[in-house]
Amino acid sequence: MNMNKGLLFIFSAFLFFGAVFLPIAADPVEDKQALLDFLRHIHHSHTVNWKENTSVCNNWTGVSCSNDHSRVTALRLPGVGFRGPVPSNTLGRLSAIQILSLRSNGISGSFPYAEFSKLKNLTILFLQSNDFSGPLPSDFSVWNNLVILNLSNNGFNGSIPPSISNLTHLTSLNLANNSLSGDIPDINVPSLQHLDLTNNNFTGSVPKSLHRFPSSAFSGNNLSSENALPPALPVHPPNSKPSKKSSKLSEPAILGIAIGGCVLLFVVIAVLMFFCHSKKQREGGLATKKKEGSLMKTASKSQEQNNRLFFFEHCSLAFDLEDLLRASAEVLGKGTFGIAYKAALEDSSTIVVKRLKEVTVPKKEFEQQMIVVGNIRHVNVSPLRAYYYSKDERLMVYDFYEEGSVSAMLHGKRGEGQTPIDWETRLKIAIGAARGIAHIHTQNGCKLVHGNIKSSNIFLNSQGYGCVSDIGLAPLMSPMSPPMMRAAGYRAPEVTDTRKATPASDVYSYGVLLLELLTGKSPMHAVGGNEVVHLVRWVNSVVREEWTAEVFDVELLRYPNIEEEMVEMLQIGLACVVRMPEQRPKMPAVVRMVEEIRAVGTENRPSTESRLEIAAATPSPQAAEVGTSSSAQP
Ligand SMILES: *[C@@H]1O[C@H](CO)[C@@H](O)[C@H](O)[C@H]1NC(C)=O
Ligand SMILES: *[C@@H]1O[C@H](CO)[C@@H](O)[C@H](O)[C@H]1NC(C)=O
Ligand SMILES: *[C@@H]1O[C@H](CO)[C@@H](O)[C@H](O)[C@H]1NC(C)=O
Ligand SMILES: *[C@@H]1O[C@H](CO)[C@@H](O)[C@H](O)[C@H]1NC(C)=O
Ligand SMILES: *[C@@H]1O[C@H](CO)[C@@H](O)[C@H](O)[C@H]1NC(C)=O
Ligand SMILES: *[C@@H]1O[C@H](CO)[C@@H](O)[C@H](O)[C@H]1NC(C)=O
Ligand SMILES: *[C@@H]1O[C@H](CO)[C@@H](O)[C@H](O)[C@H]1NC(C)=O
Ligand SMILES: *[C@@H]1O[C@H](CO)[C@@H](O)[C@H](O)[C@H]1NC(C)=O
Ligand SMILES: *[C@@H]1O[C@H](CO)[C@@H](O)[C@H](O)[C@H]1NC(C)=O
Repeated sequence: MNMNKGLLFIFSAFLFFGAVFLPIAADPVEDKQALLDFLRHIHHSHTVNWKENTSVCNNWTGVSCSNDHSRVTALRLPGVGFRGPVPSNTLGRLSAIQILSLRSNGISGSFPYAEFSKLKNLTILFLQSNDFSGPLPSDFSVWNNLVILNLSNNGFNGSIPPSISNLTHLTSLNLANNSLSGDIPDINVPSLQHLDLTNNNFTGSVPKSLHRFPSSAFSGNNLSSENALPPALPVHPPNSKPSKKSSKLSEPAILGIAIGGCVLLFVVIAVLMFFCHSKKQREGGLATKKKEGSLMKTASKSQEQNNRLFFFEHCSLAFDLEDLLRASAEVLGKGTFGIAYKAALEDSSTIVVKRLKEVTVPKKEFEQQMIVVGNIRHVNVSPLRAYYYSKDERLMVYDFYEEGSVSAMLHGKRGEGQTPIDWETRLKIAIGAARGIAHIHTQNGCKLVHGNIKSSNIFLNSQGYGCVSDIGLAPLMSPMSPPMMRAAGYRAPEVTDTRKATPASDVYSYGVLLLELLTGKSPMHAVGGNEVVHLVRWVNSVVREEWTAEVFDVELLRYPNIEEEMVEMLQIGLACVVRMPEQRPKMPAVVRMVEEIRAVGTENRPSTESRLEIAAATPSPQAAEVGTSSSAQP
């Protein structure tokens, strides 16, 4: 297992240089003593390497400090074999702590309110999978910074105190697998995005404020039947008989979206694309999925000081270098910016470590961008968990998504007896990705762009909505030469330097993604023989010439009554890929439009009306075709 050793070596190297070359700053003496007192008074079955004569901030497992090493800000001790109650007057002294994870231990007793109520800056509290019992604390308002609260898999009983509504920053609440009872209170917290109350003893009905959550969030309780909530998107039963290809689409609709275009230019470009592609194929031999042996060499070269894995504070994964040391890794694949490895940690969680190649910006600039990206927390954005930068090596740590990317789902599994992704899922991918991109565009004073939107960078979040990954790397990289550009099919025509992406070019790439979801075809795909076609041009030409449902993925034709919705999405997609960047809709408008697709489909509004609305919001799509010069670069 070359890979295994490779990654192991690289992380050992970090640990080594981190430990040896870091100037040992003063330790937070009082916090250190509090931690030692905690460890001394709680029974634990695994040894913890907390020594009085080593540095808390640099050398203690599970402990993170503020940048100036003045306070302990995070404590993550999952699965250390703690038993018994939390000793008093210990953790309560860590008053600057923001992240506390004691999950997967055997800690018992009641909720340690007297201790934890002193931790006013707590943002993440993980106590799941312990043996806590008794009631929940009655006054939650002491933790008004709390963002994630996970108390699942314990023995808490009694009811949920109404003061939980005072947690105005809460995004995630998990109380599953306890013995909680009574009515579910009105948890009126708009920021709440994840809720799990399954397998308790709740009675009554689901309060109105929680109707936005799927019924699965409440299963395993004794709730009255009227709370059989509709899922966020109603699911059409798949029709066993695929309907005929000539699915009726009203002609005015299509007329509205396609006129004009330049056939001659199209042919010229197709020829150019063909040459680009065959060159790419020759070079493509390197890009096969292969285990890599060279990690070790580069790792041993990194001799800089200060080489440490940098974790973002709101990290909800509790792992540390020791976990990574024990991780086994395999190559997931090569992306635009480097190689991705899948690493399995001991606590059975899995992460993705990405090795970047050709970063051209200096460390400072790189770090500034990482801080912007790493602090984004949104359900539709895949979080950056950690990064590492040295002279020879840049690593990024992301979550691992079991189902793979949208690209793999759309193009990877055909003909292997796998069910192709259904229309509901595609709709949710489109909605989620749009929300994620719109959110990214609001970051860093509205200066952040994604720069590399494509289906292989979109994943499904836990609710099945699209979730955007790989943000903001493009400006840090050396510009890719056009033949090597795997992202070519997504690139807006005005973008000649990949470092200079704009919000409008993100909108273009998103439009290509929509067309990909609709057609099931890659942005650059072969049509018979060796001819390579750009998806945007192909869709435009088919829509223009044939006036049929020919553009749509045949796999989608077996779902009844979705033509309206597919046409809506097609119109939005074409609006996003118009040639002139200033004519493309802005991301917030795109979000509204894709969110309306389903509303349009279910409300049975007269079809012409709904189309007119979209058409009004849509700059003339034929502009995409007229006078294109785009992606086929010289
Ligand atoms: C710390 O103290 C222990 C004994 O308590 C000793 O064995 C160890 O070498 C010391 N380590 C350092 C880094 O001083
Ligand atoms: C830090 O801990 C590691 C093992 O966890 C040990 O190898 C190393 O010597 C320690 N460094 C210091 C300065 O104590
Ligand atoms: C808690 O956080 C606030 C804002 O970040 C900070 O000003 C304050 O010093 C923190 N409290 C402690 C005890 O560290
Ligand atoms: C809470 O803990 C449960 C059990 O370990 C886990 O499945 C779930 O993902 C956690 N939720 C959050 C938001 O961390
Ligand atoms: C909760 O459990 C404890 C025993 O662990 C019991 O004494 C108490 O009555 C229970 N409370 C409720 C409300 O069921
Ligand atoms: C929320 O907090 C305020 C003060 O912090 C308190 O007066 C109020 O009772 C709390 N609300 C609930 C429902 O506990
Ligand atoms: C609750 O327990 C069930 C059965 O043990 C398990 O499948 C489920 O994942 C648990 N839920 C959480 C949130 O841990
Ligand atoms: C739920 O309540 C019923 C009756 O009120 C009780 O028999 C059962 O043990 C409770 N279940 C849990 C998990 O507390
Ligand atoms: C469920 O609730 C109903 C009334 O609210 C009660 O009659 C029934 O016994 C409960 N079932 C269980 C298993 O607790």
